[in-house]
Amino acid sequence: MLKTINNFDLKGKRVLIRVDFNVPLSNDQVTDDFRIRMALPTINRCLDSGASVVLMSHLGRPKGQVVSDLSLITVGEKLAELIELPIKFSDDCVSEDARDVSLGLRPGEIHLLENLRYHNEETDNDPRFSELLAKHGEIFINDAFGTAHRPHASNVGVSQYFLHKGIGLLFEKELLYLSSVIKKPKRPMALVLGGAKIDTKLKLINKFIDEADIIIIGGGMAFTFLKAKGIDVGGSLVDESMLKTASDIMEKSRRVNNRLHFPVDVIASKSIDDIKSIKKFKINNIPKTMSGFDIGPETIKKYSRLLLSSKTIVWNGPMGVFEKPEYGNGTLKIAEVMTQANEEGSVVIVGGGDTAAAVKSYNLIDKMSHVSTGGGASLELLSGNRLPSVEALGG
Ligand code: 3PG
Ligand code: MG
Repeated sequence: MLKTINNFDLKGKRVLIRVDFNVPLSNDQVTDDFRIRMALPTINRCLDSGASVVLMSHLGRPKGQVVSDLSLITVGEKLAELIELPIKFSDDCVSEDARDVSLGLRPGEIHLLENLRYHNEETDNDPRFSELLAKHGEIFINDAFGTAHRPHASNVGVSQYFLHKGIGLLFEKELLYLSSVIKKPKRPMALVLGGAKIDTKLKLINKFIDEADIIIIGGGMAFTFLKAKGIDVGGSLVDESMLKTASDIMEKSRRVNNRLHFPVDVIASKSIDDIKSIKKFKINNIPKTMSGFDIGPETIKKYSRLLLSSKTIVWNGPMGVFEKPEYGNGTLKIAEVMTQANEEGSVVIVGGGDTAAAVKSYNLIDKMSHVSTGGGASLELLSGNRLPSVEALGG
């Protein structure tokens, strides 16, 4: 049985927490602290219950080398600022010194360990390394949902060295929305899919084609479907190798009486940077020389209507190249409609790194039911796959 932090008496205990502090950095500054803020409830729960806390995470992919740009010191400074407490820091996660710091912690104190991936043993899920990590705590809590799909030492191997182990509050919330809620959704349920590539989302489409009432397609992947339907998409991005798959999906959708929806107009230009040539076209009228980079206003209207009639919405993948303001309107408008749906009582779940980044940039995180901290992990879970780190905890 999967336990959560609520199952343990934390008073006077040292709690080892695996967090996902793999956050974007620039010039020694954290540029997006979403994952750090989302880890605070679990940390605070421990501290408020009279426990001390040891935090461990990876940052980037240093591949077993000490890469100073990927030090968790920067993250520790951000954490100290957010939690308004001093943080002890150890520059090697498995050194004797680091273990001594953990053993000497008093209730209410926090100890952050340096980047786990400075050691290859982390990604190798090495048992000896797991055992050394385990010495930092008496209770193990995994709150690193973003890393949940990786079978590594700090989230899988380490579990076997603990009698008392479970997931944290963030992990629990992620499982609730990305798994429980969509197993018994309030209907109609809509899946909104975007992004450039179909192949990374194939499993998700295949699962939802039987389960969703409405499937809305946007982003680059829409053009592969449109081309497979026989529409001339001009110079728009098409994954030729996926045309057959796209046809099969549309055929299957027809059989199960599902409703796949595609853009009816696009914002296009001669090339992504040729902003002067930007124009909107009906989907059947895209000139050979033009490529679509966002959904058009008619599509936004159509999709908005569909979304406002849905009771559960799952969104993965932006509607256009939202990083460029010229092609960001579709993603922004769809995000705004989702906040309206949420306000009117619908459950709105946002997964995927790019989609979450877009929602963050609009400051709309708090206006959705749940924005996942995991890209790959949320995709795995939504696709119905098991997560090794959950299995390691008996879930
Ligand atoms: C992520 O950001 O996707 C997670 O932190 C996992 O990182 P990884 O993709 O380098 O394993
Ligand atoms: Mg990743």
